[in-house]
Amino acid sequence: MYALLMADRIAVIGAGAIGGVLAQAACQAGHDVTLCVRTPIPSLSVIRDGEASQVPVRVAADPGTLAGPVSWVLVTTKGHQTAGAEPWLRRLAGSDTTVVAVQNGVDHAERLAQLRLPGPVLPALAYIAARREAPGQVVHVTGRRVVVPCGEAGAAFAALLADGPVNVELSPDFLTAAWRKLLTNVAANPVTALTGRTMAVLGSPGIPALVEGLLTESVAAGVAAGARLSATDVADTLDFYARFQPDAGTSMLEDRLAGRPTEHEEITGAVVRAGDRHGVQVPLNRALLALLAAASPDTR
Ligand SMILES: NC(=O)c1ccc[n+]([C@@H]2O[C@H](COP(=O)([O-])OP(=O)(O)OC[C@H]3O[C@@H](n4cnc5c(N)ncnc54)[C@H](OP(=O)(O)O)[C@@H]3O)[C@@H](O)[C@H]2O)c1
Repeated sequence: MYALLMADRIAVIGAGAIGGVLAQAACQAGHDVTLCVRTPIPSLSVIRDGEASQVPVRVAADPGTLAGPVSWVLVTTKGHQTAGAEPWLRRLAGSDTTVVAVQNGVDHAERLAQLRLPGPVLPALAYIAARREAPGQVVHVTGRRVVVPCGEAGAAFAALLADGPVNVELSPDFLTAAWRKLLTNVAANPVTALTGRTMAVLGSPGIPALVEGLLTESVAAGVAAGARLSATDVADTLDFYARFQPDAGTSMLEDRLAGRPTEHEEITGAVVRAGDRHGVQVPLNRALLALLAAASPDTR
């Protein structure tokens, strides 16, 4: 199924931070890239190491203007915006189209399964730090890894973006990889978002114990869901958090400060749902989920 063409037709849904970086990677690999936007942008530029490059994508704001199925669709909206991408997917995803969900969380496949797409879905984890500076202007700060499951679709995706600014890595145990990535967000994001403070808040009185408790519960829920995690993952995630500058933010903090909905259902909610499914007590995550849901505006 995956004969790599010299110039595959690729659509990227979402002109945000990750969408911008991946659209550029696909263009750099020589593909024909359409960027599907909700809010119009004049053009796309990506800034890396202080240097801005214009990315030669076609920008589309209306699914009705597009010709029909493409080879690859990359969904790079926030997790809670996935349902809103349905009109694009109806137009662009045929039975030979692989839809790659490049989003945080552990429920990529379930999220897209609800849309009953005709072709395969490939979940992807971005170890990339990027931000939207202005409409159509993305800063790629650091990180180039995108992790996908081993297999035919994953290998074809790696070949698709080869030799560009992003490295696609194949994981033989994607479930564990996804839970491990979730750990990097599951304590820092809610705690910064709810307090309105940067990573410095992790050193405030009482917070280290809360952070460790959130991670310990998440590891237990992940293990019950089949991920191969252990207490070492709690320690490793604490070390990971300790390496951030105190003034660093998180995406959930940024969304909350900007009055946008947060990805709490995809991050904290994933732990609570796994806990409920497998009979694992996750009271700290459950409490934070209720607070995040109450604090997040309803609009998607
Ligand atoms: N940024 C990072 O460093 C980073 C790192 C790792 C993982 N992630 C994950 O990657 C995913 C994407 O994050 P992000 O930071 O790139 O988010 P983002 O900057 O907010 O970008 C999301 C984009 O999706 C667009 N969008 C939403 N609904 C749409 C629709 N119906 N049709 C077309 N476009 C639509 C938004 O449009 P508007 O312009 O209208 O809002 C926005 O441009 C998230 O799951 C995030 O957790 C991000």
